Amino acid sequence: MIEEISVRFATPADLTFVQQDRYIPADVVKHKIEWQEVIVAERDGDRIGYARLEYLWSLVPYIALIHVLPEYRCRGAGKAMLRFIEEYVRERGSAALYSSSQVNEPEPQAWHRHVGFEECGIIAGINTGGVGEVFFRKRLC
Ligand SMILES: CC(C)(COP(=O)(O)OP(=O)(O)OC[C@H]1O[C@@H](n2cnc3c(N)ncnc32)[C@H](O)[C@@H]1OP(=O)(O)O)[C@@H](O)C(=O)NCCC(=O)NCCS
Repeated sequence: MIEEISVRFATPADLTFVQQDRYIPADVVKHKIEWQEVIVAERDGDRIGYARLEYLWSLVPYIALIHVLPEYRCRGAGKAMLRFIEEYVRERGSAALYSSSQVNEPEPQAWHRHVGFEECGIIAGINTGGVGEVFFRKRLC
């Protein structure tokens, strides 16, 4: 059976699901939902992943977080959310999409490269414990 993965912008009803990482406060997530900066992936009506979008200089799109529930990984949900974001930001005139991963996490780095991102720089020591962050760019045209 082919699994149906659908992707949409989050609504206020998704708040608990899309802030389960607790990385940013709920009121900020609420604001991001209003601004169409939170994306949800569903399979057969169940939420299985989410992503949060930011804009560098309020202009350049950047995936601040993309997360698929562990039991649903490698089934296309990450790629489906990425495609949704790419189409959305391309329609709004962006020529490139940015993302990032901690330097000590090779799996998500490999995923970014696999889905077409290229490494474009590192900010040293920006995370807790002095861990760096590697940035990726995907050209959209
Ligand atoms: C990274 C993450 C979002 C990927 O989502 P996913 O739903 O598992 O990935 P997909 O199934 O959409 O993968 C798409 C493609 O990438 C490949 N892929 C998946 N994981 C990969 C990995 N770790 N390394 C290389 N390729 C990978 C898949 O085989 C698939 O290939 P195909 O299109 O050629 O068939 C998910 O693993 C995750 O939530 N990780 C933890 C959170 C995280 O680290 N997020 C990134 C930093 S914010």
